[in-house]
Amino acid sequence: MKIEGKEYRTIWFENNVVKIIDQTKLPHKFIIKDLKTVKDAIKAIKTMEVRGAPLIGATAAYGLVLAIIENNDQTFLKKSSEDLINSRPTAINLKWAVDRMMKKISGVNSDQILNIALNEAKEICEEDIKFCENIGLNGLKIIEEIYNKKKGTVNILTHCNAGWLATINWGTATSPIYHAHKKKIPVHVWVDETRPRNQGANLTSYELNEEQIPNTIIADNTGGILMQRGEVDMCIVGTDRTLATGDVCNKIGTYLKALSAKDNNVPFYVALPSSTIDWNIKNYKEIPIEERSSEELSHVEGLDESGNVKKIQVYPKKSKAMNLAFDVTPAKYVTALITEKGICEASSKGLENLFKR
Ligand code: MRU
Repeated sequence: MKIEGKEYRTIWFENNVVKIIDQTKLPHKFIIKDLKTVKDAIKAIKTMEVRGAPLIGATAAYGLVLAIIENNDQTFLKKSSEDLINSRPTAINLKWAVDRMMKKISGVNSDQILNIALNEAKEICEEDIKFCENIGLNGLKIIEEIYNKKKGTVNILTHCNAGWLATINWGTATSPIYHAHKKKIPVHVWVDETRPRNQGANLTSYELNEEQIPNTIIADNTGGILMQRGEVDMCIVGTDRTLATGDVCNKIGTYLKALSAKDNNVPFYVALPSSTIDWNIKNYKEIPIEERSSEELSHVEGLDESGNVKKIQVYPKKSKAMNLAFDVTPAKYVTALITEKGICEASSKGLENLFKR
């Protein structure tokens, strides 16, 4: 998608270096950063220079390519793969991508291993783009249907950033929106700010602006009253891990939006590629929920009057804060899942019909 009119992807490989857009600097600065070692890739995932489930999976895949360039000894690769998987706990795409890479390179000769790993990392990215594009085409049908009934602007609420910046291109939750906009269906997006890191305000609003899609940032607590007032036609969110039962783990606050949507008969959709499905865990209480530093709550970063990025403390110094990064929306609150293979009920039957037939 575009930034200042130029097409970008979020990650690419050039001259033995992995290039990423440093998302900790957005929206105030657009900086392309080089990752040269597997440690750089792990740090980029941990510090959220790259974030979003599909993109951290792709970064881990390229991280293994960097590890091979450094030292293709099996012990080093095994340790690197473990460190990559442990760099963030909740999004399943990380483990999915590392397992896929390790399977591909196991038993491969040292003179071929780099080529094979590099092709697989590129394939993971190409596949994600295709999957996100298909999610967009499938989700477009829902937006079209609402538009045909309403004959007016379709108001869509989204949470966090499940946009192209969280994937390689298109995004998951945003892909139907981009496709609708391309088809000239009028859309307007309510963008949840998404405290504490503000991925909605800093990333979703930024990328929608760059594609000229009307959007309005709202405080995270505003969605409820907008739904009561009939100002939300549908919600679409992404996910970091969706269980085979249809339960959806996503950015903290998603669950409250789903409850509000249910109470107001607003359809609540979750968009996901199959790489985000966890077929193993049966009970959502077993999903590891990341707890991040309380400093993400107590401090905020922004531009000062001279245009310099500055971080300031907003809480009393003596106050304690707690920062859980994800929550789980039970399947019963999800209207449907929008996947690369089609739209299905959020249930084991729905997912199995699409993926395991
Ligand atoms: O903590 P983050 O910013 O990595 O969390 C990302 C989200 O919760 C996204 O909504 C999710 O990964 C889906 S991305 C297509």
